Amino acid sequence: MSPQLSRKKARRTSTHSALLFAIMLAAGVLLQVTASSHADETDIVLKDGKGRDAVVNNCGACHSLDYVKMNSPFLDKAGWDGEVTKMIKAYGAPIDDADAKEISAYLAANYGK
Ligand code: HEC
Repeated sequence: MSPQLSRKKARRTSTHSALLFAIMLAAGVLLQVTASSHADETDIVLKDGKGRDAVVNNCGACHSLDYVKMNSPFLDKAGWDGEVTKMIKAYGAPIDDADAKEISAYLAANYGK
């Protein structure tokens, strides 16, 4: 093998492993993102009580149920009423009146400020 040939070969090998490294890195990042977003949602357990199912069934469709917990320091009964109405009127959440009442009662009782 001439010295020139072996240098060329060495260069090709290092480019190849850099590419492989980049692919593995990208795959690793993707896996991590999927794993952590999954963990986030299953970690969210709302307090037990009447109306909890209605919240879980209606309020996690568009965003995380974490929104309920994150906003609990700021909202009282009137605040939650307004929030539920806003989800329905402004954002088009398909929630009927009976469910909406049960949801805001549950939220005020368990996550009211
Ligand atoms: C049709 C989709 C949809 C549904 C269903 C829905 N939301 Fe929302 N929600 C939104 C959007 C859009 C926002 C504002 C954008 C954002 O922050 O993601 C939002 C934001 C919020 C916020 C943050 C404060 C705010 O007003 O921006 C809270 C709290 C909230 N939602 C609670 C609820 C509750 C409780 C329910 C169940 C009654 C619910 N959401 C159902 C779409 C929805």
